[in-house]
Amino acid sequence: MAVLDIKNLNVAYKSRNEKVFAVDNVSLSISEGDSVGIVGESGSGKSTLAMAILRLLSENDTEITGEIDFKGKDLLKMDINEFNKIRWKELAVVFQKSMNALSPIHKIGSQLEDIYRVHEPKIAKQKLKEKILSLFKLVNLSDRVYNLYPHELSGGMLQRVSIALSLIHKPPLLILDEATTALDVVTQGQILSEIQKLEQDIKMTRIMITHDMSVVANSCKKVVVMYAGKIMEVGNVEDVLIKPTHPYTQGLMKSFPTLKGEKKELSGIKGFLPNMSEKNKGCIFAPRCSFVQEVCHKVAPKEFEIKSGHLSACHLHGSEIN
Ligand SMILES: Nc1ncnc2c1ncn2[C@@H]1O[C@H](COP(=O)(O)OP(=O)(O)O)[C@@H](O)[C@H]1O
Ligand SMILES: [Mg+2]
Repeated sequence: MAVLDIKNLNVAYKSRNEKVFAVDNVSLSISEGDSVGIVGESGSGKSTLAMAILRLLSENDTEITGEIDFKGKDLLKMDINEFNKIRWKELAVVFQKSMNALSPIHKIGSQLEDIYRVHEPKIAKQKLKEKILSLFKLVNLSDRVYNLYPHELSGGMLQRVSIALSLIHKPPLLILDEATTALDVVTQGQILSEIQKLEQDIKMTRIMITHDMSVVANSCKKVVVMYAGKIMEVGNVEDVLIKPTHPYTQGLMKSFPTLKGEKKELSGIKGFLPNMSEKNKGCIFAPRCSFVQEVCHKVAPKEFEIKSGHLSACHLHGSEIN
């Protein structure tokens, strides 16, 4: 069953005299228990997508159309009070700088307790402390963090507190937006393996936004490749990362020569992201694509099915499915 079903989602940031089409007609269905990596260059709309799901975008500054169905209910149409009841409890997100949300004047333990009690006010103090300490263990933090203030922790420790916080209610849907990027490789690996255990225990679904292909390869079942607000390719990790079919994914993979090796700049793809305040009629990747044909400048490609569950939005491929 799809836990999250995004249909024709568009998000545009409005500024004085232009719009930035940050998410452009994205449709994506994520099943319960899936772990989905979202990759793509910086500026591709990945964080905007996460913020739209969590309704963190300001209504005044953005224009949002489409549907985001979570367990059958459209999050975008849900009454805000109803939405607040499920935010953090059923769907949680951690950003790279989530720790900025912590109060500097309260101890870590008491902040986590207060946050937990918003949804479960009746829990006994000792039981709650045990819950928090077990989460600390999961993210490799020692018990003493409970009695420390945020300024007494390093950036990496604070980031781990934010991850612990996101897991406090064991949400069915967890979104990590570059949340483990700044952590050292060992800690990142350990946290991801604990999260993967949780996924099996409670059938948690995870969306992992990252620029690090090795994280996707090692911890996700599926991958979504985004470019300039659009989905270029979707499929199982072993298909998309090992046999990428979209020229953009192929370029991304060339920028990461080995899945476990050193990170390199995006040397595989020449040029820059297009101006996202203009909608062009052809394929958005055409100006940078080494396989560009005449049709690419005129007609936006639909998603072509390479095989079941593996889709690629490129004119080079098979027959259209929609
Ligand atoms: N608050 C904002 N106002 C205007 N434009 C924004 C804002 N936030 C992001 N953008 C633009 O939206 C596009 C997508 O950004 P983002 O979702 O942050 O991409 P990613 O997370 O993939 O790096 C970029 O062109 C970015 O400049
Ligand atoms: Mg981002």
